[in-house]
Amino acid sequence: MLILGIESSCDDTAAAVVSFEEGKGLRLLSSAVSSQIEQHTLYGGVVPEIAGRAHAENISGTLTAALKSAEIEPDMIDAVAVTTHPGLIGALLVGVNFAKSFAYSYSKPIVPVNHIKAHTAAVYLIPDPPKPPFISLVVSGGHTSFYVVKDYTVFSEIGGTRDDAAGEAFDKVGRVIGLPYPSGAAMDALAFEGDKRYASFSELQGKGRGKKRTALKRYCPLPSPAMKDGLAFSFSGLKSAALNFINSKRQAGEEPDRELLASDFTFAVADGISSKTAEALDISGCRTLVLSGGVAANRHLRTALAKTCDRLGVRFCPVPTELCGDNAAMVAAQGCYEFLAGNTADTSLNASASDMLKQSGILL
Ligand code: KG4
Ligand code: ZN
Repeated sequence: MLILGIESSCDDTAAAVVSFEEGKGLRLLSSAVSSQIEQHTLYGGVVPEIAGRAHAENISGTLTAALKSAEIEPDMIDAVAVTTHPGLIGALLVGVNFAKSFAYSYSKPIVPVNHIKAHTAAVYLIPDPPKPPFISLVVSGGHTSFYVVKDYTVFSEIGGTRDDAAGEAFDKVGRVIGLPYPSGAAMDALAFEGDKRYASFSELQGKGRGKKRTALKRYCPLPSPAMKDGLAFSFSGLKSAALNFINSKRQAGEEPDRELLASDFTFAVADGISSKTAEALDISGCRTLVLSGGVAANRHLRTALAKTCDRLGVRFCPVPTELCGDNAAMVAAQGCYEFLAGNTADTSLNASASDMLKQSGILL
């Protein structure tokens, strides 16, 4: 079976083809992504109107590239999967209407896909992929949430951020210290430089290193994003503390030390997420953790979660770095399981900006 995936929820226009064989699972045949970052960098964030226009300009060429690279003719496709929600409505509508036109022209079924489920499904493209049930931790520019994945298409939200997403906080702090949008990856790299220098910084403070660093006097004292009660985060509190620190340095006529700041900020994010993940695994009883979303590319976060899972004897399955950011391979992967479950739509299909949770926390 061949599934075409289409993604246009934010600032990446993407198309991909995966194949599925009973007993063998999924295989990625092609993945084409057209990024709009250059167009948005100028404004320090995604401009919805520009995103919608750029998707409309790029989607046809991106689809052609994906089909060509997979050596597939449109007729050979069994179903078209498309991200319908959540995301920027004008951006989503481009992908949804393009997918509907493709499905109508070639008489193919159309499969609506939730972007969050899709991020998780990128894990089915690794060798020896995990099978549900497992805990899915999605950390991106729009989400930082825990789900119990009961079956390939059944996701139940069990916790997450009460305000900003982790990626949003990375981007905001990065922007204030002069990094281009999106700043997550650059913050990660700066943090490694800061980590290297932290040893000497700690010595200057007359304190130790390593595990005890949480208790140290740090360059930039930051609150943990992990809230006291429940599986909840506040990245807005963490972000505000970092911004206040930067402002107070500047008011004193000093530029903040970007490397040490990035080290402290990244440590707070990775440490806070790891501690709540341990709770989520404990509460759910699941023995596998899947990590996905743009921020899942963060090497500090991957290392911290690998250590947590190791300590708890849990299998850790991070999505490959190249599939962490938005792409259509993940949409095709989730679309395949939605198709197998009979979740198809007709041409009245529409896009939605919101998450669409059922009252019980089940993700639609
Ligand atoms: O999943 P994604 O591509 O788009 C959304 O669905 O939001 O995630 C984008 C986010 C941005 O905030 C970006 O700064 C962040 O992922 N990101 C990172 C890293 N690479 C991308 N954040 C931290 N460390 C990274 N290495
Ligand atoms: Zn995403």
